[in-house]
Amino acid sequence: MSVAAGNRTLYERASRRMPGGVSSPVRAFGAVGGEPPFIVAGEGCRVRDADGNSYIDLVCSWGPLIAGHAHPAVVAAIAEQAALGSSFGMPTPGEVDLAETIARAVPSIEMVRFVSSGTEATMSALRLARGATGRSALLKFAGCYHGHVDALLAKAGSGVATFGLPDSAGVPPEIARATITVAFNDLEAARRAARENALAAIVVEPYAGNMGCVPPVDGFLEGLRRVASETGALLIFDEVITGFRLARGGAQELLATAPDVTCLGKVIGGGVPIGAYGASRALMERVAPVGPVYQAGTLSGNPLATAAGLATLALLDRAAFERLERVGALLQRGLEAAIARARVPARVQRAGSLLTLFFTDRPVRNEDDAKTSDRLRFAAFHRAMFRRGVLLPPSQFECWFLSLAHDDDAIEAIVGAAGPSLEEVA
Ligand SMILES: Cc1ncc(COP(=O)(O)O)c(C=O)c1O
Repeated sequence: MSVAAGNRTLYERASRRMPGGVSSPVRAFGAVGGEPPFIVAGEGCRVRDADGNSYIDLVCSWGPLIAGHAHPAVVAAIAEQAALGSSFGMPTPGEVDLAETIARAVPSIEMVRFVSSGTEATMSALRLARGATGRSALLKFAGCYHGHVDALLAKAGSGVATFGLPDSAGVPPEIARATITVAFNDLEAARRAARENALAAIVVEPYAGNMGCVPPVDGFLEGLRRVASETGALLIFDEVITGFRLARGGAQELLATAPDVTCLGKVIGGGVPIGAYGASRALMERVAPVGPVYQAGTLSGNPLATAAGLATLALLDRAAFERLERVGALLQRGLEAAIARARVPARVQRAGSLLTLFFTDRPVRNEDDAKTSDRLRFAAFHRAMFRRGVLLPPSQFECWFLSLAHDDDAIEAIVGAAGPSLEEVA
């Protein structure tokens, strides 16, 4: 690799032509300092940058790569489809197979519509809820991120929280006013909001992943189900992160409750752009061309994405989820021991293969708790891990993503890097 094409040169060139030198804000390393690596290749649980450095990757493309980088079955599926053509703008067999696979895995979904991103999935689910209820208002939870949809950017987590933006500029006030926000895990506040407003929808990440990993407290989601049913709002689970990650049936498989509408993305495309929203037949038949809720897309249900998605979902059997749980628990135990040795105020929160090390010692149940984390310490820890060859998501308010390619050796190496890194920042 020539020096002229190294990280520094690429970042300078990128910064001249792309805002912040990136195509999505959190990639810019603004919250942790330094400059982002430019990735040229990935294999298994590792990525290699333009300077030739290799890292154990805990970003995993922010979730899609549950099989790891360049899994041979996924590569073969994409190559085979690419040779047949990459897009037709006509129905293809792959989307039928993927729709059936999703409906078999997620009992609350009878029909799906494919789109090209998680943002499109939540945007369209919201339109469906508004079309079905004839109402406009919606309830979301502070710190939950549902993509960059105007109506869903209020108190959004992820990059919006990372960069300290209260909301985004450019969202018309009349749209922002239709969004009511309460604290995640606060069922009472949600119930009040639903009684005081005619809500079209209650939108929630069932396990929040965009303020770091924050599981629901007992009864929260079941309570939201009751509140939605009692007040005539639709309950939308945004399972863009958790779908086919916490279980084949997503978070809802782990719960005694089901939403009206589910949003999917990430894992179902195996690293190629895709999103989907699904619900009962009665609800989905309100979507065009059968019903009056209009929604469309040139590349929707793209055959490369459905091929990569199907190849990925084929790997996700019971043994795969047991393996993800086992390596997740191994990493958690290793990090907790390292935290104790370094005597640094920090805690690990985890759900399966999603995990966050928060630099606070108080349990994180909502965004306010997450914001008690010491972000300067996280930034120093991120840099220390990066120097030791571990690529973490460059924000305190994100999950680390494990994949089937993270084996015991990789976990040992991550924990081995975390020990001295935590001592350094203690
Ligand atoms: C829970 C959740 N919903 C929606 C989105 C938006 O998905 P996309 O980035 O594919 O538009 C994200 C992205 O990280 C997400 O985490």
